[in-house]
Order: sequence, then C-alpha cells, then structure tokens
Amino acid sequence: MTDHDKNKKCDIGLIGLGVMGRNFAQNMADHGFSVVGYDRDAEKIQALMFEKKRQQDLHGGHDIKEFLKMLSKPRAIMMLVPAGDPVDAVIDELLPNLESGDLIIDSGNSRFTDTDRRTRSIEEKGFSFMGMGMSGGESGARHGPSLMPGGTRKGYDRVAGILEASAAHVTGDPCVAFLGPGSAGHYVKMVHNGIEYGLMQLISETYHLMKHGLEMDPEQLHAVYDRMNEEELNSYLIEITANIFLQKDDKTGKPLIDMILDEARQKGTGEWTSWDALELQVPTFNIDIAVMMRDMSAYKDQRKRAGHVLKGPRPHFNGERGDIIHQIKNALYAAMIITYAQGMALLLQASKKYGYHLDLETVARIWRGGCIIRAALLENIRTAYKSNPYLENILLDEHLGEAVVACEKDLRYIVGIGAAFGLPMPGLMMALSYFDAFRSSWLPANLIMAQRDYFGSHTYARVDAPGMFHTKWEEQ
Ligand code: 6PG
Repeated sequence: MTDHDKNKKCDIGLIGLGVMGRNFAQNMADHGFSVVGYDRDAEKIQALMFEKKRQQDLHGGHDIKEFLKMLSKPRAIMMLVPAGDPVDAVIDELLPNLESGDLIIDSGNSRFTDTDRRTRSIEEKGFSFMGMGMSGGESGARHGPSLMPGGTRKGYDRVAGILEASAAHVTGDPCVAFLGPGSAGHYVKMVHNGIEYGLMQLISETYHLMKHGLEMDPEQLHAVYDRMNEEELNSYLIEITANIFLQKDDKTGKPLIDMILDEARQKGTGEWTSWDALELQVPTFNIDIAVMMRDMSAYKDQRKRAGHVLKGPRPHFNGERGDIIHQIKNALYAAMIITYAQGMALLLQASKKYGYHLDLETVARIWRGGCIIRAALLENIRTAYKSNPYLENILLDEHLGEAVVACEKDLRYIVGIGAAFGLPMPGLMMALSYFDAFRSSWLPANLIMAQRDYFGSHTYARVDAPGMFHTKWEEQ
C-alpha cells in the first residue's frame, strides 16, 4: 500500500469481495467514487487490487480496523455477503469498531424479517442500517444494477449520489429510489425474485411445448425467442433465453441446453415470497407454482420411474407451426402480465400491513432497467400507476386489462394443448385460473362455507342479511 493510500479517506467501503462485490466496487469507482474493499479471504482483496491497476480509486483494507480507518466519517459501509449467518457475522465484527452515525448497508438477498431485526438492534446502538436489494447478477453489479433501498430517508440521502450514479439508467432515470422504512427494500427485492421465479417457469413451459410438442431444435427455439424479444415481450429473461439456445457445450459440441440436468435449484427467495403471500392472504398462484415446480424437478429419480408406468398422451401437433408459435407468444404475454399483477398486489398489501408506504409507480420505474425482471412491459405498468396510484390490481388498468383480454383466447388454447398433449404447464394454467377467478363476480365459495358450517358449525354469511348464521344441517 502506498503512503497516498494510507492517508486516503474513501467515500464508501465494501465488505464481501466475491464477484458481485468486486464488480460493484469497480462500478462505483468508474463513477468517480473512492472505494475501499475488505474480505476475510485475502485472495479476494488481491483480486480487487488487480483491478486497481486500471481504476485508481480502488483500495483494500487488510483487516477490518484498517478498512474502517480508510473511510471518511461518518462511514458508509456496504456489505455484499451471502444472506443469513454471514450477514450477522460481519455486523458483529463491525459493531465494536463503529462510531455514532456510521451507516451499514446490507445489499445481499436478506430475508425481510432479518432486516427488521437487524435494523432494530443496530439503530438502538446509535448506528444507521439500510437493507437494500440489488438485482442484475454479476453483469448488473458491474455495469448498473437495479437497487432497492429501504431504511431511513436520511441514511439514503447520505449515499444517494453513489447509488444513483452506479445504478442502471433508463431514459435518464436511475433505477434506484428510496422505497420506504425498515425492510421495505428487501421486501421489494424478495417480491422481485418471486416474480422472477414466476416468469422463468412460464418461459420454461413454452420451451417444453415447443421442444416436445412441436419438436423444435435449439436453433429454431433461438429464432422464436429472439423474435419475441423484438416485440411486446421484450425483456431480459427472453433475451437470455434466446442466447441460451445458441450456446454450444465445450465438451461435446452439442447445444449446451441439452447437456444441463433438469433439476432446478433455489436459494429461497421465491419460497419466502410465497410464505409471506400466504401469511398476508394475497393469492400469488404463479409464484407458488414456480416454487413447487422447482421442487418437483428435483424428484428426478421418481419422475423417471413414474414415466415408465404412468402413461399419458404422446404430444403430436399437426397444425400450422407459425400459427401456434404466435399463440404461444400471446399466451406468454398475457401470463406475464398476470404474474406481475400478483407480485404488485402482494406489494400493495405488504405496504399496508408493514407500513412501507410503497409507491408502486416508483417500484415499476426502478425495475425497468438493471434487474432480472426488466421488461418493456414495466413501462406500461408504471404508466398504469401514474394514472392511478391507488390501483388495486394492474389487471384493472384499462390498457393492461385490454392487453390480457386480447390474448385470452390464445392463453386458453395453449393451456388446452398442454393438457391434451400431457405436457405440464401449470404456470400458464395458473395464470389463466387467476384471470378467470379474478374476473368472476361469483365463486363457489358458498359451498365451502356450507361445508364448514355443516361439519364444524363455523357459520356463514348470507347474501340477503348482515351477520353470521348457523344451520343444523342434519336436522332438516
Ligand atoms: C437478481 C437475482 C438474484 C438471485 C439469483 C438466484 O435479482 O439478481 O434474483 O438475486 O439470487 O438469481 O436465485 P435462486 O437461486 O433463488 O434461483
């Protein structure tokens, strides 16, 4: 370390120099901020110092004390470490060395309940804490992620310049904004991931139908998704899907997609979203089924055995391929809108329940760039909230509702084809069921109430009088 480095006071510190951390440090330095990094693994500090050759304002602290000394006061310390115990371990290491007013920013995928707990315990000690979601993977961290900070406005204002410069930008707007108190930022990130799971499930179902129902090869699949990405489905997930089908396996020379085992893993954010949606009684069909299908995929061995004995139809399509591809595209578009609708409805309810005061137009705005669920559609969702900030469900927006209605027949047809072909497409089915349930002014829940009252005297409400009623069913 040079003398200049020793006296240097950096704008921000970053703990956790894995690829995400190192990339985000470089990103901030690119925007003219001086960054000091620290990691328990000395090799990771070395890797950051290697980047310093190109970017002068990157520094490394060899231990936590040196790291803290290199920061201007009050300090702003960002953490990018795996969610769970590692976050608490870093906080425990920091706390005895902090001074009043220092700010800790947790930018990992922490569970929002942990963020609430940490906020309470850190703020009690006179320090500030910010839970901030970061989306966009390694490339987002390097070139501009979507950032979802919560905590206090005062804490946000201290680092707003750094975050706004380093975030992705869409039409000049940074994909970051202060979202709300406490765990608001991590909650929004959790729901982002829930929507991400839902969209990935839908796309994978269209792939299943085209691969096994239409017998399309990876090159043809690339062309279909590439085309989709030029139209209303334009989005990061469709774009990478198109690219995936072109990738060849280094080892065999075959399309890599065909060499990847069909067992989906998960770190848990989708499941957390479903848990909390159940808790808040917000129906999130598409997020729930996406988690369940990842779970189902892991039963590879049982699925293989069942495939030999549980016979179903053999998929065979003899219609016009161009027509059905157009219908698949429309079905996917409708289902994607319906999936965003569920995530946004969950955010609305969580905002009320947890006092986040979320502005959903802002959420849609900061998701337009940098993050995994960025999509042209988010501009339409943003417009919907702009014209009605109190919108209860985006399907009630005239334009988004019309867009779904325009594709409804194709969604229904594709779901029917999936069922007839014996191809599991529960995401598309769930989207259709959500749509049909949501637009039903009457649902057969009266029968459920009658059954509850019959076997458990749970009472029921009547259509023609207030209050709750009970019937002695077997005495009639
Ligand atoms: C993002 C992603 C990211 C997520 C991984 C893996 O927004 O950049 O959502 O945060 O952790 O993509 O998530 P799963 O392992 O749960 O699929």
